[in-house]
Amino acid sequence: MIRMGLHEKVLELKRKKNALVLAHNYQMSEIQVIADHIGDSLGLARLAMEAERDFIVFCGVRFMAETAKILNPDARVLIPREDATCPMADMIEAADVRRLREEYPGAQVCSYVNTNADVKAETDVCCTSANAVEVVQWLEAERVVFTPDRNLASYVERNVNTEIIPFDGYCYVHMKFSAEDIRGSKSAHPEAVVLVHPECRPEVIDEADEVLSTSGMLTYAKESPAGEFIIATEEGLIERLSREMPDKAFYSAGMARFCFNMKRIRLDDVYRCLDEEIYEVHVPPEIMKKARVSLERMVSIGK
Ligand code: 13P
Ligand code: SF4
Repeated sequence: MIRMGLHEKVLELKRKKNALVLAHNYQMSEIQVIADHIGDSLGLARLAMEAERDFIVFCGVRFMAETAKILNPDARVLIPREDATCPMADMIEAADVRRLREEYPGAQVCSYVNTNADVKAETDVCCTSANAVEVVQWLEAERVVFTPDRNLASYVERNVNTEIIPFDGYCYVHMKFSAEDIRGSKSAHPEAVVLVHPECRPEVIDEADEVLSTSGMLTYAKESPAGEFIIATEEGLIERLSREMPDKAFYSAGMARFCFNMKRIRLDDVYRCLDEEIYEVHVPPEIMKKARVSLERMVSIGK
């Protein structure tokens, strides 16, 4: 008798339960290989919205699973680990947005998708790293309060003719990349193209050839004639790039950097949550209704 490994058991369970498994680019490789789709925040939000399955198992952090639920309220959305949260999303509360509106009357509010649902409910439009510039341009406002990532806010400000009022949040993973890391990697690999995530510090962005979302980096590397890339983002994406393009070389800018929150989810957590139908994501109806407006705008803007 052939004994099934955990990998096969998860594949069989998701068929049996009519479940769609979505995995962010930073997930462990063992999760990425059992997923139906791997992607960035924008791509996964759009896939979740269109999904017609009984369950969506979201392998990412909580705000991503919440986004899936808000965009597809009829689906049962499960997150394999309840403690997989994004520290940047927890840096801002709905009351902060209300205070900023009072401080800057007339300003529009754009929030990064890396926020909790109650913040999205107070927001005019959400964006991701893939469409932040286009979203702010879409607002056609003179002044935009941009929350919570100060680095993404600063990157957007460089690319629009709009006054940006940033909130002071940040990502602990991307803050670890320094300009010195990039310069050191460039001198070790002078031919490599430098791809930087916009959550990095402004002085790191200054060293980039391209500033892209995680899936933007994947598409760029696939289409580029270059054979070597220096990558300033979390290690999970670098593993995916190396797996899907074995003939190209991908180097982390300086040391490999990990998002320990994303890495909490393991294969046995995926099996258990779907088997027992636990850790379902719920959003209060009033918040859901308001947050859907800012999220539907987000998914309709950009490629
Ligand atoms: P992407 O949408 O570019 O995948 O980024 C999500 C994220 O959390 C980056 O830290
Ligand atoms: Fe949040 Fe940063 Fe982890 Fe992305 S990498 S989920 S922004 S902590």
